[in-house]
Amino acid sequence: MIERPLVLVTRQIPEVGLALLREVAVVDVWDGDLPPPRDELLQRVAGVHGLLALLTDRVDDELLDAAGPQLKVVSNFAVGYDNVDVAACARRGIPVGNTPGVLTEATADLAFTLLLAVARRIPEANAYVRDDRWLTWGPLLLLGREVSGATLGVVGFGRIGREVARRAGGFGMRVLYYDSSRAPEAVETELAATFASFDDLLAQSDFVSLHVSLSAETRHLIDAAALARMKPGAVLINTSRGPVVDQAALTDALRSGHLWGAGLDVTDPEPMRAADPLVTLPNCLVVPHVASATERTRDRMAEKAARNLIAGLRGEPLPDPVPAPST
Ligand code: GLV
Repeated sequence: MIERPLVLVTRQIPEVGLALLREVAVVDVWDGDLPPPRDELLQRVAGVHGLLALLTDRVDDELLDAAGPQLKVVSNFAVGYDNVDVAACARRGIPVGNTPGVLTEATADLAFTLLLAVARRIPEANAYVRDDRWLTWGPLLLLGREVSGATLGVVGFGRIGREVARRAGGFGMRVLYYDSSRAPEAVETELAATFASFDDLLAQSDFVSLHVSLSAETRHLIDAAALARMKPGAVLINTSRGPVVDQAALTDALRSGHLWGAGLDVTDPEPMRAADPLVTLPNCLVVPHVASATERTRDRMAEKAARNLIAGLRGEPLPDPVPAPST
């Protein structure tokens, strides 16, 4: 390894990760609350050997060129890496790392939090009390959807989708899943999850939760046609990436009442402004991309991202490499 390699970290991350990096490198941390503006990022990245990037940074040819030929590794502080042009990195022989595994439970928990909150109208109920409108117990007050015994459709049955299925079991839900490949029988049995076609899943599920990565294939996977195929009164949960859902079509489906509600941790674009119809609709709950935001998970992500970066600086295989696209 170079004596004291230079590393750029594009935001403050938990100290546990920075401490690991400081043991081996000179670390430049962008300490703004917002991501570095593009111009600033292009300047700061020049000459670094390692880049620890966030999902708010676009890592593409322009950035890699600005960094220079000494750049040895890109470590993304996220499991998703749609912000990184992995092919552009591969062309330069730069490995890319991500942080799978450590945020699975936290993300599944948040997906379930949204599911329960939308089904039981928690934001509306809370506003009702805060606005001092609570006058009595009411047989017809704030009726929601029953979660227990309902059917959950999990779209994308990787680590996070499977953990959502496991939680659904605890709520007595029937679980359908769709993925481009079928899970091993032992997994299906353990999670009592039944493989379904995408169309059947949409048609049969009371709740649909999205757990696919963003790619050309999954962009607007949930479009107007898919929403129309969903059961009237169903609920959509998205903790994957905003562009997986056509938000204009979702707005229509929520306004018309075809969908009961939606819970979104991710939007397109991010951040979503408060004036967006999806924020103002009473049957849509939007939170600001916080699925992995627990203290423990963010520490573990920082550690993983740092270990990927350090391995790359040493020219060793990354503990969590992102697969290079096949050419
Ligand atoms: C967060 O969205 C992540 O991909 O880790």
